[in-house]
Amino acid sequence: METLTLNSPFDMHLHLRDGEMLENVIKYTAQNFASALVMPNLQTPIVNVDLAIAYKQRILQACKMQGIENFMPLISLYLTPSLDKAELTRAKEMGIFILKLYPKGATTGSESGVKEILDSRVLEILEIAQSLGMVLSIHGESNGFVMEREVEFHPVFEALAKNFPKLRIIFEHLSDHRSIALVEKYENLFATLTLHHILLSLDNVVGGMLNPHYFCKPILKTKKDQEALLQVALSAHSKFSFGSDSAPHLRSAKESSKGAAGIFSAPILLPLLAQTFASKNVLEKLESFVSHNAHKIYQLPLSQKSVKLCKKPMTIPQECYGVVPMLAGETLEWSVA
Ligand code: NCD
Ligand code: ZN
Repeated sequence: METLTLNSPFDMHLHLRDGEMLENVIKYTAQNFASALVMPNLQTPIVNVDLAIAYKQRILQACKMQGIENFMPLISLYLTPSLDKAELTRAKEMGIFILKLYPKGATTGSESGVKEILDSRVLEILEIAQSLGMVLSIHGESNGFVMEREVEFHPVFEALAKNFPKLRIIFEHLSDHRSIALVEKYENLFATLTLHHILLSLDNVVGGMLNPHYFCKPILKTKKDQEALLQVALSAHSKFSFGSDSAPHLRSAKESSKGAAGIFSAPILLPLLAQTFASKNVLEKLESFVSHNAHKIYQLPLSQKSVKLCKKPMTIPQECYGVVPMLAGETLEWSVA
């Protein structure tokens, strides 16, 4: 049987939520990844070091309850104007070195986000982050027309990349083919790619019957975008690392008139990546995409943990603890051994 061992896989953009949801979903990631960058957009957002440390403890406790001891959560700190030098210095000392910037109102849990990104207070914070060697992850969307939001945000990335040449800036869940050249243009600009943006398009959301389970921010785009992003992933382009943006919402929250944004992909990530890379005969590139690239971009130590995949079918459940996963009910060619 064909197999593949991935050393130290990283998921550089993950939503774990809190409480019961955290306890239910943690295993999908903790069993299969060495580490993941956990997003801070909780109902009580992770806006300071104390909250971050307490959240990390809750995640580790949830791992322990599942008997998983070799998973390292990296907590990102929600960027708000109340951060200052003392807090950022303390964060860095505690191993919290990634700031997450949400434009206010851009997505789920972004109400505490930044209204004016190029405001002097924010720039001050970024100056400190740069001097401390931190990483800035950005949800890069304007509040314009939904299909143009990412491109409309490009000038902000350009301004920040020029102003802070030593700050590593991550263009999160890049979704538009026009964004690829921008990432290549600036030495200090990098990106994450999700599984859904490299495999799905707007057709999956509204091409047939409306499918709220494929509604996410940034919205899935055209076939051309999807194909261009897939090529970037398959080539394991060194400026792009894997970040699933797996974002669980209960079925009721997705299917109600409120229609929460977010795709839950955690249960299928590595098997579907293996299937995708294998089908294009580039399985040997997968380890760079899910491990080495993040190791280099974020200067993360490689873990001893490795994950073995094999070409054995896996049927995706219809529902996991009330959450509908990506490709629910379908069968994949690969599974975790
Ligand atoms: C995410 C969530 O549900 O927290 N939703 C999403 O559509 N991706 C937030 C985010 O990353 O934008
Ligand atoms: Zn996200």
